[in-house]
Amino acid sequence: MQTPRIAVANQKGGVGKTTIAINAAAALSGRGHDVLLVDLDPQGNATEHLGLMDTYDAPEPNLYSVLTDPDERAETPQLVESHAEMDVVPSNIDATAVEPELTMMRRSSEQLDAALDYVEAGYDAIVIDTPPTLGFLMDNALYAATNVLIPALAESTSKRAFELLFDHCQHLEDELQIQIEEVGVVINRIDVRKTQAQEMIDWIEDAFDDVPVWRLRERAAVQKALADHQSLLAYEPNSDQVPTLRTIGESLEAQLEVGT
Ligand SMILES: Nc1ncnc2c1ncn2[C@@H]1O[C@H](COP(=O)(O)OP(=O)(O)OP(=O)(O)O)[C@@H](O)[C@H]1O
Ligand SMILES: [Mg+2]
Repeated sequence: MQTPRIAVANQKGGVGKTTIAINAAAALSGRGHDVLLVDLDPQGNATEHLGLMDTYDAPEPNLYSVLTDPDERAETPQLVESHAEMDVVPSNIDATAVEPELTMMRRSSEQLDAALDYVEAGYDAIVIDTPPTLGFLMDNALYAATNVLIPALAESTSKRAFELLFDHCQHLEDELQIQIEEVGVVINRIDVRKTQAQEMIDWIEDAFDDVPVWRLRERAAVQKALADHQSLLAYEPNSDQVPTLRTIGESLEAQLEVGT
């Protein structure tokens, strides 16, 4: 059976994809699973947050070469770095050139899936952080995972972001003959003092009545943890947001049968 894979996606920028990817991966790892986090965003934020910036300008094989050259795919295991909470395939400065390269390739959305086949055997789950664009990298993440965890802010602009994301998923499902499952929505950076927040929380919970919807508050410790190269679970286990992160890990484990 294929190792369960989860793409953390929303083409809207700054909603918490990287934060949720790292913390969801850490939550699964905290439940005793071996987790691989793939930083598919050329910005390399997850790579930086996990303290792996020295690998960001690594020569080939790197994320660019394994995604754009089928002959390099078998080198994917060489990319794996270790972090105390998870293993990581870091992003790379060259990954900024992946998009134009993929436009010229056959099966342009299927390259990550093929590369992960070379590393997945060692893991119970693979979490993929995605860039804030509906481009080929995003398509590769969605095709490889077919499960999507969606972070979103409690702001009215999120409605349009969901619409665009779902239209895009529908298009990919038709074109690539796949089924993309929503495994949950994380309403992130909730600040109850903002008037729009409660209205949007209600709207999202209503719109997603058949998938789990979690609420994560705005907390300085979330950012401090990442600046310290770790998840909130490791950095501040007593944080009032940790139970939510643990629930996310537990739910992903149950939904995707992680570790069975
Ligand atoms: N719950 C939270 N509380 C406080 N700060 C948060 C929280 N979640 C995310 N942040 C901060 O918000 C900013 C954006 O988060 P993040 O980088 O995870 O978003 P993103 O969707 O990955 O962004 P991009 O679209 O650029 O990839 C970061 O500075 C992050 O530390
Ligand atoms: Mg990000």
